[in-house]
Amino acid sequence: MRVLSTWLAGRHNLVRFYVTQGTIHVLNLQTSSSARWLNQVDRHLEEILIDHAHCEHKAAATAMSLLGAYIENQTLCEEMTQIVAEELEHFHLVQALLKRRNIAFRKLPPGNYGRELNKLVRGNEPGRAVDRLLVAGLIEARSCERFSLLAKHVDDSELADFYASLFESEARHHTTYVKLARDFASETAVKQRLIELATAEAAIIDAGHMLPRMHS
Ligand SMILES: [Fe+2]
Ligand SMILES: [Fe+2]
Repeated sequence: MRVLSTWLAGRHNLVRFYVTQGTIHVLNLQTSSSARWLNQVDRHLEEILIDHAHCEHKAAATAMSLLGAYIENQTLCEEMTQIVAEELEHFHLVQALLKRRNIAFRKLPPGNYGRELNKLVRGNEPGRAVDRLLVAGLIEARSCERFSLLAKHVDDSELADFYASLFESEARHHTTYVKLARDFASETAVKQRLIELATAEAAIIDAGHMLPRMHS
C-alpha cells in the first residue's frame, strides 16, 4: 500500500496518481469495488442517487459532530467548518440533480457500512479521536473511489461529469482527516491504525450488502 506521505503530497500529485496509478493506492484503501456493486448501480440507480444525497448530509453531520467533540483544537475546527459547508453544498447539488430527474427524495433504511465501521472506534481518548477521524477519512476515500467508478461506468454524460467533479473535494477531505489524526497520535501510530481500519473496511466492502447503497 502506498504510504501516507505520497498521498499528502498535494492536489496536483493526487490528480496525476489518479490518472496514472489508479485510485486505490492514493486513497489508502485495501480493496477495490467489484462488478457486484456496479451491477447494483445498473439495477437500482435511482435508489443509489437518493442514498448519495443522504451520504452528503451524513458527511456534514459527522464533521459537525467532530467539531463539537474537539472544539478546543483550532485547526480541527477550521477544517471541520469548511467540510461541513462543502458537504452541505454537495447535498444541495445532489438534491438538485434528483429534482431535474423527477426523482422524489425520501428516507431510506441505511445499509450496514457506517454502522460496522463505527463499531471499530475505540472508547477511550486519544484513540477515539484517531479512530473517528480515520473512519471519516476512509468513508471519504470509498466515496471518492466509487464516484470515480461511477463517472467511468454510467452511460449518462450529466452523471459522469457530476461524479468526476466531486472527486477532488472528497479526496481532499480524506487527506484532511488523516492529517488531523496526527494531532492525536504519532505518525507511525496513525499509519498503523489506518492500515488496520482500512483492512476492516475492505472486508465490509468485499462482503457487500443486499440494499443498494453508495457504500454497499
Ligand atoms: Fe461530499
Ligand atoms: Fe467529503
